[in-house]
Amino acid sequence: MTDTRILFEPVRFDNLSLNNRIVMAPMTRSFSPGNVPGEDVAAYYRRRAEGDVGLILTEGVSTNETTATGTPNVPNIVTDAAKDGWKKVVDGVHEAGGKIGIQLWHEGPYRNPAKTAHPDVPSWSASGIKVAGKALWEPMTEAEIETAITEFVDAAVAAKEIGFDAIEFHGAHSYLIDSFFWDQTNLRNDKWGGDWQGRTRFAAEIIRRTREKVGADYPLIIRLSQWKQQDFAAKNAKTPQEMEHWLTPLVEAGIDIFHLSQRRFWESAFEGSALNDAGWAKKLTGKPAISVGSVGLSGEFTAAYAGESSEPASLDRLVEMMEREEFDLIAVGRALLQDPDWAVKIRDGRKDELKTFTKEALGTLY
Ligand SMILES: Cc1cc2nc3c(=O)[nH]c(=O)nc-3n(C[C@H](O)[C@H](O)[C@H](O)COP(=O)(O)O)c2cc1C
Repeated sequence: MTDTRILFEPVRFDNLSLNNRIVMAPMTRSFSPGNVPGEDVAAYYRRRAEGDVGLILTEGVSTNETTATGTPNVPNIVTDAAKDGWKKVVDGVHEAGGKIGIQLWHEGPYRNPAKTAHPDVPSWSASGIKVAGKALWEPMTEAEIETAITEFVDAAVAAKEIGFDAIEFHGAHSYLIDSFFWDQTNLRNDKWGGDWQGRTRFAAEIIRRTREKVGADYPLIIRLSQWKQQDFAAKNAKTPQEMEHWLTPLVEAGIDIFHLSQRRFWESAFEGSALNDAGWAKKLTGKPAISVGSVGLSGEFTAAYAGESSEPASLDRLVEMMEREEFDLIAVGRALLQDPDWAVKIRDGRKDELKTFTKEALGTLY
């Protein structure tokens, strides 16, 4: 039986103290009709706080009502009703002794206009990209870029006012912010594209302007991924040096914590080093890092969408990496979606009670 005590050590960063090192990964649930999180959503998050999760990260939350989302029943933080809904979520988590950060999400090129209430509004992307000679997206105009930045900042300010303990900017998985980072979807030759300084400018501006508004002591996290939805083998940074060029402007802009999304946390980032993506982010920047990907489960998450189940799996590898202090926090997705008491069961060694992840969990707010 793995000694998992390291996972349950309290941790204190400059501006964030947590009871333990387990983070609930952000997971879109699509249970918010009218884009408003209701009582059932509040109870779902509260159960995770009661289940000893150190930091809950919400599902992706839209930064506007038009271009930011094409996924049905995704909550926003724009309308008064949605803000009231989030206040209840936050209060419930705090009453249960937990902490909660909000993930701010703009789907960018992955929004499908046809699925939205605004099919005539084109989706936003760093640059146009042509597939088989057909332009899939037009590059965002300067005015659209300004609007997108302002909307992220306004959403962050609203989240702080509501009482969230942290903001996580969704800069991963091919969505809007990531479309600026990746050289395949950022073909711009103005100040928002080109070299790393240009391709990180959009994210850095969001962080810098948010930092100005929320103050020095408010925790800002950014989630990043090398992999893309359309290409799991893709890499924003092909070498540690490139990764340094990617992350340093975000540190200078005021980010506190890096959250590196991998499908399998144990996979190394670059040949010749065992460190994973979060490990390299921490090594290169000195900032705390969150890792993620198939913790405690036999299969990875994109297969779950295709209906694949996953069995409980050993935490030996995770504990080894955390004991070596390669990263500071570990995010857990499906295991916590399936079972709000996952962390308690791990803490208390109740191995026989760990659950298999099944596709039914995707359609239920356990
Ligand atoms: C149902 C579901 C919804 C997800 N939605 C989001 C999301 O809104 N934002 C995000 O950054 N990642 C999202 N992810 C990815 C998870 O945050 C996590 O990185 C992934 O599930 C891997 O962790 P796991 O193997 O522990 O499940 C989602 C994953 C699942 C299974």
